[in-house]
Parts: sequence; structure tokens; C-alpha cells
Amino acid sequence: MKKRIIIANWKMQLSFKEAKFLAKEILIKIKKKEKEKKKLKDFDIVLCPPFMSIAEVAKIFTTKENSKRNILSCGAQDCFWEEKGGFTGEISPLVLKELGCKYVILGHSERRQFLGETNEMIHKKVRTVVNLGLIPIICVGETREERDRGLKEHTILTQVSKALEGINLKIYQKIIIAYEPVWVIGSGQAIDSQEAEYMAKIILQRTIDIYPLPIVHNNIRIVYGGSINSTTVRSFINQETIDGVLVGSASLKAEEFIKMCELMPL
Ligand code: PGA
Repeated sequence: MKKRIIIANWKMQLSFKEAKFLAKEILIKIKKKEKEKKKLKDFDIVLCPPFMSIAEVAKIFTTKENSKRNILSCGAQDCFWEEKGGFTGEISPLVLKELGCKYVILGHSERRQFLGETNEMIHKKVRTVVNLGLIPIICVGETREERDRGLKEHTILTQVSKALEGINLKIYQKIIIAYEPVWVIGSGQAIDSQEAEYMAKIILQRTIDIYPLPIVHNNIRIVYGGSINSTTVRSFINQETIDGVLVGSASLKAEEFIKMCELMPL
């Protein structure tokens, strides 16, 4: 079985101080669980703070004591497709790596919708991030309109194929694909977990068509995102093909986030 993962996307919801505080609160709660001998099981926890707070949050996790824990990592919510150069206002993936980030969310629907990100741009970002040894969390998902027109599967297959086109994965390069139906993000109402499993299987099939089986089994994880909370997390994570969850709103409260972490199965 693939290692499970829970990813917190804090979006632009927290101030610098709030992000630092929340990261520390989460770490304190994890330490407390360890003291109570309720050591969290073997899975990955990734926190993706707003850009301005990344350096601070990454610093909290990379102290000698915490790096031994090895379950907490820092991720970014986006980056540019070049490592450096004359690209005013953009974020270098190389600098994210330097700061201690291990993961980068790419192609989130809010960026596709509000910043005009295209499949081509996302593809270039995936290529750069993978080559740098960072792990892209590639977000795909249909809008309500695409769904109503019967284009759900078509949209997802197009987004996955375009993001990965021509990108070979070496055995040390990993990727995560997050299925997030756009119309349920932030709605408080997740889709049925059976439907998420069906979509995860479609994504899995596409990766099997592109990559050798050992790469699919060892290097690619598929997660679900969209209105996940401590009440719903279990039904998604118990599905055969879903290796984890990407959480927005419910990751902004330490108590709720830790509750979700505790519900992760072995
Ligand atoms: P949500 O956000 O959990 O608030 O729906 C998920 C996401 O946007 O990744």
C-alpha cells in the first residue's frame, strides 16, 4: 500500500503571524500525542502556507528535533516554470527548495480560474518542479458546467495528460495528482466518496497508460480534495485508489486538522 498523505492548503487565508502560530500549534499537538503514546501513524503531513510565511513554517519543521519526526513537511501553493531569470513578481522553485519545501501545489482551480493558468503553463511548471526533485501536487477537476455537459471524465483525462505529456519519471521522482471537483471546493459539501474513487481509478488508468507499472505503484499518489473535514475524511481515505486528501478550510484550525490526522488509517 502507498504511504498516505494529508495536505493542508492554507490558501491566502492567514496573516504571517497566524500561519506561524498555526504551524507551531500543529507541531505542539503532534508532540503531545507522541507523549501520550498516541504516535501518529506512518503517513505524510504537508502544510502549504501562503508564500510570505513559507520560510518561517519550513524553519519550524526543519529543526534537528523535528526533522527526526519525518512526517511533517512544508509545501508551496504554486511556483514559476523557470528556476531563475527576469520574471518580475514570480516565485522560484529553486528558492522554495532552498527554504525547505518538499512539495508544490500546481494548477489549483483557483489559479486556473482567477490567474488564467492553462494546461500548458501547468505542464511547464510540473516539468521544472519534477526536475528539481520537488514533488508536484497536480490539481485537476471539472467545473459544474463541464459536469452538466457530461464532460467530467474528458476534462480530467485532458488535464492529467497535458500536465504529464513527455515527462519521464526517474525512480527517485514522485508526483501527486489531486482530484478536486471545482464546484465543491469551499462549499462545505464533498462529493460522494464512491464517485471520488471512480475518478481516482480513471486517473490511475491514465497514469498506467503513460508510465511503467513500477513507477505508477511507487512514485504516483492520487488524492481527493474538496470540502473534506473530520467527519468525511475516513470515507475517502478508506477507498482503494485514494491515497490521501487535500484540505482547505478544515485545515485552518489545529484541533480539526489533528483530528483528521488521527483518523488516517495505517
Ligand atoms: P476546501 O478546499 O477543503 O475548503 O474545499 C480544498 C482546496 O481548495 O484545495
